[in-house]
Amino acid sequence: MSSTRQLRLGTILHGASGNMSAWRHPAVTADASINLEFVKQTAQLAEAGKFDFIFVADGLYINEKSIPHFLNRFEPLTVLSTLAALTSHIGLVGTVSTSYSDPFTVARQFASLDHLSGGRAGWNVVTSPLEGSARNFSRAKHPEHALRYRIADEYLQVVKGLWDSWEEGAFVRDKESGQFFDPAKLHPLNHNGEFFQVAGPLNIERTPQGRPIIFQAGASSDGKQLAARHADAIFTHQQTLEQAQQFYRDVKQQLPRYQRNPDDLHIFQGVSVLVGEDDADVERQYQDTAALVSIDDALNYLGRYFEHHDFSQYPLDEPFPELGALGANSFRSTTDEIKREARQRHLTLRQVALEAATPRPLFHGTASQVADGLQRWFEQQAADGFIIQGATPEVLARVVNDVVPLLQQRGLYRHDYPGNTLRSSLNLPLPENTFTTATNAQDVA
Ligand SMILES: Cc1cc2nc3c(=O)[nH]c(=O)nc-3n(C[C@H](O)[C@H](O)[C@H](O)COP(=O)(O)O)c2cc1C
Repeated sequence: MSSTRQLRLGTILHGASGNMSAWRHPAVTADASINLEFVKQTAQLAEAGKFDFIFVADGLYINEKSIPHFLNRFEPLTVLSTLAALTSHIGLVGTVSTSYSDPFTVARQFASLDHLSGGRAGWNVVTSPLEGSARNFSRAKHPEHALRYRIADEYLQVVKGLWDSWEEGAFVRDKESGQFFDPAKLHPLNHNGEFFQVAGPLNIERTPQGRPIIFQAGASSDGKQLAARHADAIFTHQQTLEQAQQFYRDVKQQLPRYQRNPDDLHIFQGVSVLVGEDDADVERQYQDTAALVSIDDALNYLGRYFEHHDFSQYPLDEPFPELGALGANSFRSTTDEIKREARQRHLTLRQVALEAATPRPLFHGTASQVADGLQRWFEQQAADGFIIQGATPEVLARVVNDVVPLLQQRGLYRHDYPGNTLRSSLNLPLPENTFTTATNAQDVA
């Protein structure tokens, strides 16, 4: 192992954690998705474990078949702003869609979170997989997959440009002379593109991280390309070591095309984890939570990936139905994977639905076995870090108390935060202001 490369951890706020029916577990906070005390304790526990960040996913459309956590949850930037005041070092990463928002607003919001948290803001850029979102945003039609990514690309250029509106130190606030800001350090954007016309400048100064950290979560080829061009980190999940290695290689190889180095983009695998005393304890914990999910719940869960398709119309114990292109304009990378697995392993609809809704945790066993698994994926270049998704509600505490110390003993994981910002945790350099770089280039020429 190289002495500089450190394994990184994040966790996701996902209601009660575990599967969609985990809220029914006797030991669980049933309203975890909307319970500030629960959210606070989760973030503080992850911070005690020196995690890089806490991650808030999001969606923009629900119906009565959505999983309980999606029906009633906090809006990401609002809850992260509260967490900024309740934590001191952990990164705060929130999901906002580029298909249903405006760059000027979003640039302001994340810049504000970066200031409020002293440099811990991260934006998970998504393009919104759910067709129904259009109906909540006065749109006639949900943009198709490739168009969503073209919009996202221009959107990110605009937001990055807005974040460069003010150079470092632009606000001089000289009471003697009456000069509030230095006009030479102010840069309007004047962006006039295919999808956006944004004059700028942004009405908030350059942020502690230079600009907030950008995450990206799409795994199709368009998604990977967007990440290679713009993102500091990727949130993905692959089922096997080999698939994860292939994804890792594929994305890292694209970076030179954008004058970037492999270390400029961290790849986080979202992994489901279960920690127990021994195999029997792990199996008991898994069965206790899996048994909470009914087959009807599982069919609804599966349906959401496929544009809320109604799977109850098919026989449960026959081969997984042929769905044609259904899902391609939704969670494409996920639905492609589900179809491929079903075909290759000759799975029935019941098997596919239950596997999707109550997957066996990828990393399970004693604390030491879980640490071994994480270490293997990390050292064999399948991931730079992991987003821990507890297979039961107790998992996060087990990881922090039992797995983290093992990773520390093995020299793989930090004992303390290297600084106060998410950028410093991720060991990423401060970005240059593009306006300054452009001026310097002119000076040289
Ligand atoms: C691990 C992972 C996490 C995601 N999280 C979100 C999310 O929180 N909100 C959202 O709207 N979409 C989320 N997505 C969906 C993607 O942003 C994207 O819209 C969708 O996967 C289709 O793009 P793709 O085919 O490039 O993967 C996630 C996707 C993956 C793979």
